[in-house]
Amino acid sequence: MSLLSPKWGLGRSLVALGPMLLLAPFIALKQHYSLPEPQTALTDARTDLPQISEARILGFAKHLSEDIGYRTVGTYEHALADAWMVEQAEAAQRNCERVVRESGRKLECEVWRQQGSGTHRFDMMSKRLYKSYQNLTNIVVRVSDGTPAGKEHALLLNAHLDSTLPSPGAADDAISVGIMLDCIRVLVDTPGWSPAHAAIFLFNHAEESLQDGSHLFSTQHPVAHTVRAVINLEAAGSTGRELLFQATSEEMVEAYSHVPRPFGTIFANDVFNSGVLLSDTDFRQFEEYLNVPGLDIAIVGNSYLYHMRKDLVENIEAGVAQNMGENTLALIRHLTAPGSALPQLINDGPGHKKKKMQMVYFGLMSHFFMYRFATAKVLYGALLASALALTRPVWGEQARGMLAVGVGIVGSMGAPNVVALVMHRVLGKGMSWFAGGHFAAIRLYGPVTLLDEKSVYAAIVLLQAAAAFGIQLLGVGSAAAFFISGLPIFGSLLLNNVALTTRKGEVSLWAYALGQFLPLLTGTLIMVPTVEVFVPLTGRLGNAPADNIVATLIAFLGSQALPLAIPFAHRFGRKALQKAVLVLTVATVANMAIYARRDVFDDMHQKRLFVLHLENVTTHEHHLHIAAADGAPGFHELVQAITSDFAGLQTSAVPVVMDDYNSDWDPLYPFSAFLSPYKIELPTDTGYASPWIAPGTSFALTAVNDVTDLAAGTRSFTLQVDHPGLIWTVIAFDAHVLKWNLDNNPPAEFARHHVKEASYYKADTWTLELIVQLPAGGAGEGIAFNFIGLQEKAMWPGKRAVKAQGGPAMVLFERLDAWLEEKTGGTVDATLLGCVAGSVVV
Ligand SMILES: *[C@@H]1O[C@H](CO)[C@@H](O)[C@H](O)[C@H]1NC(C)=O
Ligand SMILES: [Zn+2]
Repeated sequence: MSLLSPKWGLGRSLVALGPMLLLAPFIALKQHYSLPEPQTALTDARTDLPQISEARILGFAKHLSEDIGYRTVGTYEHALADAWMVEQAEAAQRNCERVVRESGRKLECEVWRQQGSGTHRFDMMSKRLYKSYQNLTNIVVRVSDGTPAGKEHALLLNAHLDSTLPSPGAADDAISVGIMLDCIRVLVDTPGWSPAHAAIFLFNHAEESLQDGSHLFSTQHPVAHTVRAVINLEAAGSTGRELLFQATSEEMVEAYSHVPRPFGTIFANDVFNSGVLLSDTDFRQFEEYLNVPGLDIAIVGNSYLYHMRKDLVENIEAGVAQNMGENTLALIRHLTAPGSALPQLINDGPGHKKKKMQMVYFGLMSHFFMYRFATAKVLYGALLASALALTRPVWGEQARGMLAVGVGIVGSMGAPNVVALVMHRVLGKGMSWFAGGHFAAIRLYGPVTLLDEKSVYAAIVLLQAAAAFGIQLLGVGSAAAFFISGLPIFGSLLLNNVALTTRKGEVSLWAYALGQFLPLLTGTLIMVPTVEVFVPLTGRLGNAPADNIVATLIAFLGSQALPLAIPFAHRFGRKALQKAVLVLTVATVANMAIYARRDVFDDMHQKRLFVLHLENVTTHEHHLHIAAADGAPGFHELVQAITSDFAGLQTSAVPVVMDDYNSDWDPLYPFSAFLSPYKIELPTDTGYASPWIAPGTSFALTAVNDVTDLAAGTRSFTLQVDHPGLIWTVIAFDAHVLKWNLDNNPPAEFARHHVKEASYYKADTWTLELIVQLPAGGAGEGIAFNFIGLQEKAMWPGKRAVKAQGGPAMVLFERLDAWLEEKTGGTVDATLLGCVAGSVVV
């Protein structure tokens, strides 16, 4: 059998393995990019039953994101969306009542418009942060069978109606609002359907202001205590299958296994929980304040448009809404049906921490696998024992093999990082792959990972099995990835030994073909979505070493997808290996040359720029503050060009330090830590009369009920913040707080505090109750507060329609935006915010 011959050279062997090497990624990619046919009709023509309609969902999303527009919390448009949502909920309720009248079904739809105020602590990026909100709203629809028993245990579905500062939010999260509305329609219109357990649809109206809406619902809504589990629908992208990236109970994973097209792995769960993605969803509030388990699901493909102006319906891929709608519908049907696990999820009272979920799960092609951690330990342990037994005769050589694998792994991680360093530091061409997307990044760093990899097949089997078992012992579900690649290569080695080769020490080419197929398939299924998420993420990571992060990621996932590359490289002797290394080196250098010439950004992979027009009511100065969210080259030059065209030749841009005391960027705190900003002085218009210092409309902080107790060494007062026409106000101050109305445990020391506010349109006063420790030896001079807010009418482009009311900020923004478009060829997405700030001793 010549095919088994190890005598075949490298080229011929590769040709023989070619079909496998192509087929596995092909199948994986086909699976990854598959979406259902989008439906327009409300009913399925064949069955005459109601169906999810993508056209209807996108109609809602378009109305919210384009007819209403930027729904930033506190704006007029935000209030419009609130009113629209109430209308939609009431229309759904009327439909429900019609169905009940006509069919006598056990069905009830109730609607609430919840409005309330509150405070909560919201730590982020290792910073302590507090939120205070006034009169924010949620629209809630409960669908039940109308009986007390049917309402006792409920499933909560959540999507947010608001959009973030610089974005119309079609995918994030208007599409999910549309999906929930369409699910209500399909459920209510389905003949005979009646839920054994209620479904509560929360159209949450303040997520982007740091989860105030979900906090309001969880802590104050009359039906919140009936919630047993939550399904949160989100977006950080606009294409592909929506990803299950957090699952916190076995029952909920089981429920998820019934959706038509599952897409979720414990791997995504582990990555998200590690915090490296720096994102957070309403799920956090439901976990913290309702103490319920659930599923966190989001559209994640093409995250370049996440929180950008181009998050529009026209950029949402066809089939995305259909897929997410059908999956969500299946979950609701399953969890509200008789026999559902929902009642078992009752929690043991507030504060009782749920045990960590102990379940491995992953979708592989059309199958969804799940098993307990205990089972995983037995499975992986058995694999390790078998691998040890199988390779026992050659343990001595194994040790050397392991060493070679170790060197190989270090090399495979090291080489791409050297390339990354050369690109970034030496050539000054960092992030050259950004606009090219995840495949461009894989092409740049992929080939290098094969350099220096030497070892033997059996050592790989042992290492995969040991990694699976060892990592699982640590309670990390992602160990499954090592098991999935370890199992087939173990099987192939076994087959090789008993059936394929007669001579000892020989590995048949078949062993490679059979052993490598599944790892390559699953490796592709893990690598593509991971890189898809991480590459766009580098566009908002500030000065983090983006090149090295992406290189390491690809090297690691690549070697996991091609575990047999190491023994394979060893197969043809030193000479062939040297030749292969040479070819790969040349390929890499050629790649580097090509990438070094590429532009980092283009019009669909834009640079994120933040621009503040800041009027200081204390110093009466006006400044322009500019920052980028990425570390790509060319930013300094861009700022200089803006300075000379907008501030005149006398001025220059000054780089400023970014820390907790840079209050100019507090509207973005604590994300501001990622920014490396510049400050440019603007000439002041002598005819300008500031409304923010005029009596009756001024932005002011005052102390009310101010009582100093010198004997006790304390001062108590209510800080009142008046901010007419300004939203998202932030105050920052240093004090030793003994007590306040934010929580029960302010830090027991002198510290800096940040409190951010978000409120309903025209709710323009908020207060903070404080008792502070006086400085030793007297009342001191008071507390210095920094304060800042955004002009409700000066945010470009969200407020373009009322630009005349936006003052000098909007005049400048209109010009600057057109300038950026022209000078950068549309490769910059700027968030332009008119701010008013000051400082005062209270
Ligand atoms: C909140 O709403 C109530 C009732 O409409 C109103 O009386 C109150 O002034 C509002 N609060 C703020 C801060 O505007
Ligand atoms: Zn969102």
